[in-house]
Amino acid sequence: MTEPVLDVHLTPEDAAVALRAEARAGLTARPKWVSPKWFYDAVGSDLFEEITRLPEYYPTRAEREILVARAAEIAALTDARALVELGSGSSEKTRLLLSALRNHGTLTEFVPLDVSPSALTEAAKAIMADYPGLRVHGVVGDFTEHLGLLPGSPPRVVAFLGGTIGNLIPEERDKFFSSVREVLSTGEWLLLGTDLVKDPEVLVRAYDDAQGVTAEFNRNVLRVMNRELDADFDPDDFAHVALWNAEEEWIEMRLRAVRPVKAHVAALDLDVEFAEGEELRTEVSAKFRREGVERELTAAGFTLHRWWTDSEGRFALSLARAIP
Ligand code: AVJ
Repeated sequence: MTEPVLDVHLTPEDAAVALRAEARAGLTARPKWVSPKWFYDAVGSDLFEEITRLPEYYPTRAEREILVARAAEIAALTDARALVELGSGSSEKTRLLLSALRNHGTLTEFVPLDVSPSALTEAAKAIMADYPGLRVHGVVGDFTEHLGLLPGSPPRVVAFLGGTIGNLIPEERDKFFSSVREVLSTGEWLLLGTDLVKDPEVLVRAYDDAQGVTAEFNRNVLRVMNRELDADFDPDDFAHVALWNAEEEWIEMRLRAVRPVKAHVAALDLDVEFAEGEELRTEVSAKFRREGVERELTAAGFTLHRWWTDSEGRFALSLARAIP
């Protein structure tokens, strides 16, 4: 089989340097924070897959329901020749879109973008095996920074699924939507998955499941930092916290020190101290309303063309079109 084409905008060294700078900024800030990017090493990615199968974690199933119902309509509305997938996550959802676009007869190219070259190569090969004749042109990059030169022939659909947009704070989202708009020509498309505001109890349960899988996923950040930054955090020193921030309308995940903690981060030549009860913020996962999504897309130069939710109104898929 032919190898997938890969454009590398971000080497593993670049990624490591960027993550280090962020880790230093976050671990020396008050309150302390680290980027949710640290979650997704091999163990963390497996834990996330496990989360998507938990009874409490509805977003993945809700988004899949929408895609099953709407993929053919998306193909008919967009006539897309290329599907660009940012943070090429679950291959199953990608396949729903690829199959619909293939059946519609317009698709020639798939452009997955991910920070991990190995994950990208594996995903690309699997897609090439199942969609003979489809050009696969992967881009190794960070979707917040490397949209500059998106391959693929117009009209393209840029898919950003799973609700990962919620990991960005509002000003980062503005920047992100604007940069997507900049790389697209008028008439091209953004397909965006957003989790919706709902009963806080349902939301908190989705991020604090009974089996403790999300707690392990959260604490895995410490193991990743131990390995990647030569740090000596003891995951048992921290408790998993998931709370609903009603003002910001986002879920926050934190790690709370259950006793006073002193850690050394050798790669940063940094000593880090936590008082008992002090928290490290590891993720925000924003939840949306239609008005807010529409406002943000409009501000960036898109028009909200279609808005679909699952049957229970928990999750939305927006099809937005780049306007002049
Ligand atoms: C992959 C970012 C969409 O925010 O729901 C799952 C990650 N964090 N459980 C989310 C996550 C805790 C997830 N995203």
